[in-house]
Amino acid sequence: MENIQVETKKVPLARGLKYGSIAGIVYFFIAFFANWNHPLELRIQSSLSHGLFCMGMTFFSTSMMEFFFNRFEGLMKKYIFAVLFSGCVSLTLMISVHLVMGTPEVFTTVFASAITSTPYYLLFPLKLVFEYEEKIDRFAYRRDENYRREWHVQKVSRPYNLKDFLKVVLLNLTKISMKNPAGVESLEKKFKIKEGSRELRIGFLGDLMPMYKYGWRLSDEVRGMLGEVDYLVCNFEGLLEGLLEGTLSGERQKVLLSQNHNTGILESLKEFLPAEKIILSVANNHSADYGYDYLNQNFEALKREGFKVVGSRDVPSILLDEGINLVAATEWSNQHHGYLSFLEYSVKHVDKNNFNLLYPHWGHELEFYPREKQVRLAKELLNDFDAIVGHHTHIPGPISKYEINGEEKIVAYSLGDSATGLYRRRYRYGMALTLDFGRNDTGRLELLEGKWCFTQLQKEEGRSYILKEIENYPV
Ligand SMILES: [Fe+2]
Repeated sequence: MENIQVETKKVPLARGLKYGSIAGIVYFFIAFFANWNHPLELRIQSSLSHGLFCMGMTFFSTSMMEFFFNRFEGLMKKYIFAVLFSGCVSLTLMISVHLVMGTPEVFTTVFASAITSTPYYLLFPLKLVFEYEEKIDRFAYRRDENYRREWHVQKVSRPYNLKDFLKVVLLNLTKISMKNPAGVESLEKKFKIKEGSRELRIGFLGDLMPMYKYGWRLSDEVRGMLGEVDYLVCNFEGLLEGLLEGTLSGERQKVLLSQNHNTGILESLKEFLPAEKIILSVANNHSADYGYDYLNQNFEALKREGFKVVGSRDVPSILLDEGINLVAATEWSNQHHGYLSFLEYSVKHVDKNNFNLLYPHWGHELEFYPREKQVRLAKELLNDFDAIVGHHTHIPGPISKYEINGEEKIVAYSLGDSATGLYRRRYRYGMALTLDFGRNDTGRLELLEGKWCFTQLQKEEGRSYILKEIENYPV
C-alpha cells in the first residue's frame, strides 16, 4: 500500500506557462515595492530576477512536492514533509538568488513572497493526499480470508477518506446539509405498494447510540405509531460497557470516539417487546471499536439478554417468520478488520425464496439527502433486494420508492437517531417506520404498505429522555 506513487496529471505546457507568467508578474511587483527605497536600476534587476525565479518555481514546484510526498510513509508524514521540504528548498533557492544578484532588501522581498505563496504550499500537498487516498485500496482488509482474529485496534481512526472526514467535522461545526444532488423525493407518511391482507408487521427505529448516564424510553405516541409490530429492528451502535473486565487480559484501551452503552436501554426495549422479537444489528462503524474479542463478547451478551443479533461476518442475515431474509451490512468501520458483514458482500446473502430486506449502515453523517453515488448504489442493490432500510447519518433521511424491473421497491435512506446521550440537539432526531407484509399466491411475503413519522428525543424530569413523535423535522 505504501509503495503507491502519486503523480498528478501533467500540467500542460501552456497552462504551466500561464500560471508561471502570472506568478512572475505578481512576484516582480512584490520585489519592486519591497526595494522601493533603492535606485531604479537595482530595483528592476532585483524584481526581474525575483519574477523569473518565481515563474520557474511555480512551473516546477508541483513536481517537487510530488517528489517529497512520495518519499515518505503514512499520510501525515507525507503531507507534513511535502510542505516543509518543498518550502525549505524554495526559500533557500530564493534567498540564494537574491544574495547572488545583490538585491538590497532580501528579507522583505523573500518574506512578502513567502507569505503570498504559503496557501499554495499548504493546499497542493493536500490535493496529493486526496489523490493518494483515492488511489489506495482503503478497504483491502475487508477481504481477509482469515478474519476470525484480533486486529490491531487503532486509538485514533476514521471510517471515511480524509475528504469526507473533514466534511463531517465541518458539518458538525456548521449546520447539517440539506443539499439534494440526486433530486430524491420522499414518500407520504402513509404509503401503499400493493393490495393484500397483513400477515406480518416489522417496526424500525433510528440508531441506538449510547445514552451514557441517562435513561431512555418510548413515548405512548411512538408505541402507538409502531402499533402491533411483530418485530422491532434497531441498529445497536457501539458496545456494552465492561464486558472484558475479568474475562480477558487487562482493561480495554481507550479509543477515540468509541461508543459505550450501559444496559439500561436494553431493559427499556424489553418493556416494549419481548427480547426475542427485537433484532439488533451490530453491522455498524462502532462495533469493532475494541477489536474482535470484544465484538464477540458484545454479540453473546446481547444474545444472553434474549435479543436476536445480526451483522457479524459469521451471522450476516436472519430469517424472520419463514419469509423475511433480513441482511445486515455496514459500509463503514472505524477500525480495520474483516469480521463484520460488509455492504459489498451483501448480495451474496440474498435468498430468492424469501423477501430480502437489506439493513445497511451507510451514507454520510449529517447529510439529509443521499449523494448521487448512494442513489445509484441503492438502485443497483434493489436488483437483488426487495427493500432497503438504512441508517448511520444521525439525522433522518428520505424514504423513496423506485420502479426496478417492473416492481415498486422502497429505500429508507436513514432513520436518524432514536437514542443518544450526546448533548447536541441535532443528534436527537430520527424516524420510526413500520412495514406491513402479506403473502402472495405462491406463499412468498411481499411488502403491502408502510407508515413513518419523525421522532425527537426529549428530556424528561431527572436523568431520562423520552422518544416522542413530532410532526415535522426542524432543520
Ligand atoms: Fe454509524
